Amino acid sequence: MWRGAIQQVLISEAELHRRIQALGKAITMDYQGKDLIFVAVIRGAMMFSADLARAVDLPLRLDCVALSSYGDSRVSSGQIHIFKDLSETIAGKHVLIIEDIIDTGLTLQYLWNHLMSRHPANLNICVLLDKRAHRRVELPIKYTGFDVPDAFVVGYGLDYQQRYRNLPFIGILHPEVFAKDALQS
Ligand code: PRP
Repeated sequence: MWRGAIQQVLISEAELHRRIQALGKAITMDYQGKDLIFVAVIRGAMMFSADLARAVDLPLRLDCVALSSYGDSRVSSGQIHIFKDLSETIAGKHVLIIEDIIDTGLTLQYLWNHLMSRHPANLNICVLLDKRAHRRVELPIKYTGFDVPDAFVVGYGLDYQQRYRNLPFIGILHPEVFAKDALQS
């Protein structure tokens, strides 16, 4: 059973739901009367951005960028690739980046600079998970869902070798999964 690879459920489906509703309410209050665009960082933020957008009671626009720094590795390469850029123009708009997790911060730093060069009226960051242990750059994060420990977390959009994104909760992957992969490679 593939769910047997999960050592521990860190954040349950119900906890995710409650926190995302609260974030949605805060965003609704903060962006009243503003021209708001969500920029979701896919693939990781697919689930989070879809649920968060539905928790915001404003006529926001949805856009996405596809970035990757990890590939199938567990360690950030530090080299960020843009696979898909914005579809909308953001000049003069209120932009909120929606990201599943900040770890080293390199991905968000790259995206922050990339989006700032397009002259938005305002740029902010919303992350579901904040893993501080390996932070290399500090960024102004306006909304955070949960702080997480230094463990390999999967589910609710987050992957290990492209799998586990469809788990409805955030879980810690069993170290044996990595060990088995190391033996096979
Ligand atoms: C993951 C995650 C963030 C980034 C965070 O992306 O979705 O974008 O890593 O790490 P950092 O703070 O150390 O830069 P990944 O490259 O695994 O691509 P994915 O979104 O397709 O899962």
